[in-house]
Amino acid sequence: MSSQGTRGGGNRFPGVVAAPFAMVKLGPDVVNGTMDAYSGYLPDGKIWGFSMMHESGTGGAPKYGVVSQIPVLGEVPNPLVDLSQPRELPDEASVGYYKSTLANGVTVQLAATEHAGLYSYSFPSNGTASIVVDASHVLPSFRGLGWEQHYSGGSFSIFPDGHYEGSGTYNNGWNLSPDWTIYFCGNFSHQPFSSRTFNGNVSASRSYSNSSSVSGHARLGGVFTFVETDLKSRVGISFISTEKACRNLNAEITKDTELETLVQIAKSRWNEEVFNKVQISSNHTEDLQLLYSSLYGMFLIPSNRTGENPNWSSTEPYYDDVFTLWDTHRCHTSLSHIIQPKAYEDFIRSLIDIWRHDGFMPDARSSNFNGRVQGGSNADNVLADAFVKGVTGAINWEDGFAAMQTDAEVVPANNFDPKAPDSSTKEGRGALPDWLQYGYITPRYSRAVSKAVEYSTNDFALYQVAAGLEKVDEAERYFNRSRNWRNHWNPRATSHNHTGFVVPRAANGSFLPQDPLECGGCYWGDAYYEDNSWIYSMNAIHDVAELKRRVGGDERFVDRLNKLFELKIFNAGNEPGFTSPFLYNLLRGAQWRSVDRSRYIGGLYGAGEKGLPGNSDAGAMESNLLWQMIGLYPLTGQTTFLVLSPWFESMTIRVGDGKMLKITTTGGDRGTAFYVQSLKVNGEVWDKAWVAWEDVFQDGGTMEYVLGERPVDWATGDLPPSPASWETSYL
Ligand SMILES: *[C@@H]1O[C@H](CO)[C@@H](O)[C@H](O)[C@H]1NC(C)=O
Ligand SMILES: *[C@@H]1O[C@H](CO)[C@@H](O)[C@H](O)[C@H]1NC(C)=O
Ligand SMILES: *[C@@H]1O[C@H](CO)[C@@H](O)[C@H](O)[C@H]1NC(C)=O
Ligand SMILES: *[C@@H]1O[C@H](CO)[C@@H](O)[C@H](O)[C@H]1NC(C)=O
Ligand SMILES: *[C@@H]1O[C@H](CO)[C@@H](O)[C@H](O)[C@H]1NC(C)=O
Ligand SMILES: *[C@@H]1O[C@H](CO)[C@@H](O)[C@H](O)[C@H]1NC(C)=O
Ligand SMILES: *[C@@H]1O[C@H](CO)[C@@H](O)[C@H](O)[C@H]1NC(C)=O
Ligand SMILES: *[C@@H]1O[C@H](CO)[C@@H](O)[C@H](O)[C@H]1NC(C)=O
Ligand SMILES: *[C@@H]1O[C@H](CO)[C@@H](O)[C@H](O)[C@H]1NC(C)=O
Ligand SMILES: *[C@@H]1O[C@H](CO)[C@@H](O)[C@H](O)[C@H]1NC(C)=O
Ligand SMILES: *[C@@H]1O[C@H](CO)[C@@H](O)[C@H](O)[C@H]1NC(C)=O
Repeated sequence: MSSQGTRGGGNRFPGVVAAPFAMVKLGPDVVNGTMDAYSGYLPDGKIWGFSMMHESGTGGAPKYGVVSQIPVLGEVPNPLVDLSQPRELPDEASVGYYKSTLANGVTVQLAATEHAGLYSYSFPSNGTASIVVDASHVLPSFRGLGWEQHYSGGSFSIFPDGHYEGSGTYNNGWNLSPDWTIYFCGNFSHQPFSSRTFNGNVSASRSYSNSSSVSGHARLGGVFTFVETDLKSRVGISFISTEKACRNLNAEITKDTELETLVQIAKSRWNEEVFNKVQISSNHTEDLQLLYSSLYGMFLIPSNRTGENPNWSSTEPYYDDVFTLWDTHRCHTSLSHIIQPKAYEDFIRSLIDIWRHDGFMPDARSSNFNGRVQGGSNADNVLADAFVKGVTGAINWEDGFAAMQTDAEVVPANNFDPKAPDSSTKEGRGALPDWLQYGYITPRYSRAVSKAVEYSTNDFALYQVAAGLEKVDEAERYFNRSRNWRNHWNPRATSHNHTGFVVPRAANGSFLPQDPLECGGCYWGDAYYEDNSWIYSMNAIHDVAELKRRVGGDERFVDRLNKLFELKIFNAGNEPGFTSPFLYNLLRGAQWRSVDRSRYIGGLYGAGEKGLPGNSDAGAMESNLLWQMIGLYPLTGQTTFLVLSPWFESMTIRVGDGKMLKITTTGGDRGTAFYVQSLKVNGEVWDKAWVAWEDVFQDGGTMEYVLGERPVDWATGDLPPSPASWETSYL
């Protein structure tokens, strides 16, 4: 289960995550020499450490891989040389457990808790057992994009009883973070026969010292040598202090804690908190693996770092490792809400608390630092989605709206990112000056067109919350602004017999020539980010009726959606296109076409190591599959879910407070009979290709589908709402 998506670009973290969102993610660090190990793991290459912190399913550049140790067979005259080992056998992983067998005969088994890790070593008897703890170890990046991490210093002390404490400070990475520090506290099951600290660097080959305490900017750490061959090593970490790291360790893993006990606790936590929330009728191994592997992959990050933020004192929850809302806001956050309602509410409180202390909510964040922003300020969409679905709890919505308004009105300071020096990539909306002045974004800003489409959805999010809080003036202001994507619409831009696309627009109002199929490199300095105008033209999902009108009506819209597939524009592994395949539901008689697309997309996934059609992106990819299985697709920022076609005869989702959503199908066959013939919602015949949050999730409910081989025009009722397309009233 934990191996899904670890090969072929999924970058899923396969190591130990003892509970959903656990701060410790303990796993191997593989050095390959050419490929970046985004989560530390790669199938091919040598292991050069097992470290306590990782991300999961990210791209850009590796982050963390810190607080590392490596077992060495024999004496270690110089701990600074390459101590990496090939693997004797492929690694083994299951929920809460990881095992590596190294070529030198050492076996390493791992288990963990939320703030501590347990390493169980078995050394062969033909050499001395040594363990090197290296404070300077970070995951490297070979891509040469300027996003590699740097070690900038540390400290290491060995105490007379054999335990050690220290810290490491690092900077940079994909989010261009300044120095941040992690503290650690470790001990072994046995007194070392000898131990020493070291302090030097690779080129100074014997510059280790005998003193018990070292600090500074050179590579440093400790070497521990034992007479025993079976050893346990336990380590606690903290962002606050070495004392807190020791407290975390002793509270969670004692000298008597067995590895197997931690593995069992981790399994039962994942079962109770995640897996038991969804049950299906199918007994097919592949189905079960796909379902539960995907659920697992959704909740590895962000990291719950409540009580672990060194930069402010607050009673609010704190989550870090947001990678990134740009990826996850379309379909991950809305499923998190259903499966993990408490953590979801806490996460939203954390976003708002970050705004209180740092001035802006993040679009992405790690090591306590916001960055990078790829498009809009998508925390706005996440907040609005929660707001319209009635999430309140301990959320202060006045502050929530103020945080959103900061995104909408305050120009963030330029961080002069070498990849996009025109405006901030740290937080907020860098291109806001144009947005406010022109209602569109001129080419003086990078990613101008894709930003404009996202800013429109962000402003729609503000409208939703303002309207709900009865802030009438603000509601009108942001409702109007949510239509600004239209200002990029060049009705004469043409591609493959379609006219009308969002294109770059100059300050004098003229549209600039742009082939809608092209986007340069689709990267930081281009007009569109990671996709082209065909996709971005469809992404104002709050204004689809207007889009439909602009593309020339229903038939042309169907043809345009079909072209996404015929021309191979659509990429199931890329988030900007996630919602497009299901927009057929906003047309009469075309819901079956969304079903076709949904089944095609579902077929691209598998339970195995190469089972993700793209980078996991912090679980965005996994949540996208889960919605196909459920047979619904969320429209973030609205209460609407588009109806697709569920996979199973029966699926039960626990939606909180003992309530259930039970989805059943009859007449279906996975390969041949999957078109909706009819649907009943809560026992009533349903004629709409959508349901609202209140219909099935708020209090649970039932959805009973009849499926069959041929499309039937069953959805003859109201089309899904297209709220920004309404002619008159905005409230
Ligand atoms: C790095 O990974 C690639 C792809 O799996 C593999 O072909 C290559 O042999 C690996 N390099 C090393 C040094 O293991
Ligand atoms: C010890 O045994 C392992 C196999 O268990 C072997 O790989 C290694 O080379 C041996 N080391 C020494 C120092 O003999
Ligand atoms: C560290 O481990 C050693 C050996 O098991 C033990 O004697 C010592 O008390 C431990 N120290 C702490 C602080 O746990
Ligand atoms: C370190 O300790 C070893 C063994 O006790 C000794 O031989 C060596 O001279 C010491 N080195 C330093 C730099 O003190
Ligand atoms: C690292 O080694 C080089 C070469 O021996 C030396 O010039 C440099 O000062 C050392 N750096 C540190 C931080 O010890
Ligand atoms: C799945 O297996 C259980 C227990 O073996 C059995 O009771 C149930 O009928 C099976 N369900 C299906 C859909 O085959
Ligand atoms: C966070 O706190 C640490 C320690 O006080 C400080 O060095 C660092 O600059 C702070 N980081 C930010 C982003 O404020
Ligand atoms: C997050 O971590 C804090 C501190 O460890 C804990 O009290 C809280 O229950 C955790 N939240 C969730 C949703 O597990
Ligand atoms: C919103 O747009 C409407 C219609 O164009 C216009 O009448 C109104 O003044 C605008 N309101 C604001 C606050 O910009
Ligand atoms: C191009 O679109 C027009 C409608 O705008 C349609 O009548 C015509 O058949 C289309 N041509 C092709 C080659 O698809
Ligand atoms: C508008 O600006 C663009 C880009 O600066 C320029 O190419 C174009 O000639 C201008 N058009 C007019 C009518 O001034």
